[in-house]
Amino acid sequence: MATHETVLIPGDGIGPEVTAAVTRILASADAPLNWVEHQAGLAALESGDEVLPETTLEAIEHHGVALKGPCTTPVGKGFTSVNVQLRKRLNLYAAVRPVRNLEGVETRFDDVDLIVIRENTEGLYSGVENEVTPGVVTSMKVATEEACTRIARWAFRFATKRQRKKITVFHKANIMKMTDGLFIRCAQAIHEEEYPNIEYEQHIIDAGCMRLVQDPSRYDVLLLENLYGDVVSDLCAGLVGGLGVVPGSNFGEEAAIFEAVHGSAPDIAGKGVANPLALLMSAVMMLNHLADTRKDDACRAVAKKIKAAYNTALRDGAKTRDLKGELNTEQFADTVIERLG
Ligand code: NAI
Repeated sequence: MATHETVLIPGDGIGPEVTAAVTRILASADAPLNWVEHQAGLAALESGDEVLPETTLEAIEHHGVALKGPCTTPVGKGFTSVNVQLRKRLNLYAAVRPVRNLEGVETRFDDVDLIVIRENTEGLYSGVENEVTPGVVTSMKVATEEACTRIARWAFRFATKRQRKKITVFHKANIMKMTDGLFIRCAQAIHEEEYPNIEYEQHIIDAGCMRLVQDPSRYDVLLLENLYGDVVSDLCAGLVGGLGVVPGSNFGEEAAIFEAVHGSAPDIAGKGVANPLALLMSAVMMLNHLADTRKDDACRAVAKKIKAAYNTALRDGAKTRDLKGELNTEQFADTVIERLG
């Protein structure tokens, strides 16, 4: 059986706790992975390196795939987000976050099945901020036709492959007529010229968010620019049980990084109570990606086995505290491992 060299970045805060639990589950499931561990974030700084070491970037470029724990970014000061840097440097322009109800996790809705696709390289995350004069600061929102078209084409292709029916863009082009205007024009053009069979709609984001929390079942695939994608991903997580249950992935042409939507959760870090499920689901996405790109059926079989195990665990009531359960991180991992079959 082929073994895939895969970069592992434990990250900060709850990162090392959830990555330890997830790698233990993957090993118990005989996932054909060989971890190549690298640091990023505070962990890298503390070991005397850059916040995003070149060796970490080179390893991801070389191996093409990484599983990443969350990295802390200081608020209102300090270094640029490692996540933003990673996505830009590796050109991981498409973030994909599937948001679905899980059996055993009770929420207000029982029919959520959404995919959030976020443009990962532009918008207000360009990091161009200036102090014009004391007390006056600006932040530049960047949109290019190339990146808007690229993410739109990626989203329509993805929707077609996954047999999804509809793409909705959330935007604020009534106010940001140029930047968001370009984003919707590019999406509309790709729909009309290349994918007329996929239904397309565009909603102003404020009303879109209201509709989303009233009736999430009316949405299928959401396509958003960078900041809106960030915010709406967490909103969607709230529809299905919270940040502990939503996985994520970042795709470029040459590499992909799989990570949960959640952050380093400093409020619970070090307590051993974080939910490892979001990262485990991200690892399942990674195995399916390896199965698709490297034609490795063993990866698909392991992904299926792990998914069945965590679904059974949840149905049996095995839950961490964020889901109103009583298990800690390692106990939840144990219950999944017991159900691997
Ligand atoms: P957060 O996602 O870390 O936490 C928000 C809330 O959700 C907290 O109450 C936390 O305890 C809870 N939570 C998150 N993940 C959980 C899990 N797996 N199990 C149980 N509860 C969980 O967001 P916050 O507090 O805004 O950000 C903290 C740090 O994380 C910041 O430095 C931020 O920049 C960074 N961050 C990193 C991301 C990444 O590396 N991809 C993504 C989002 C934030």
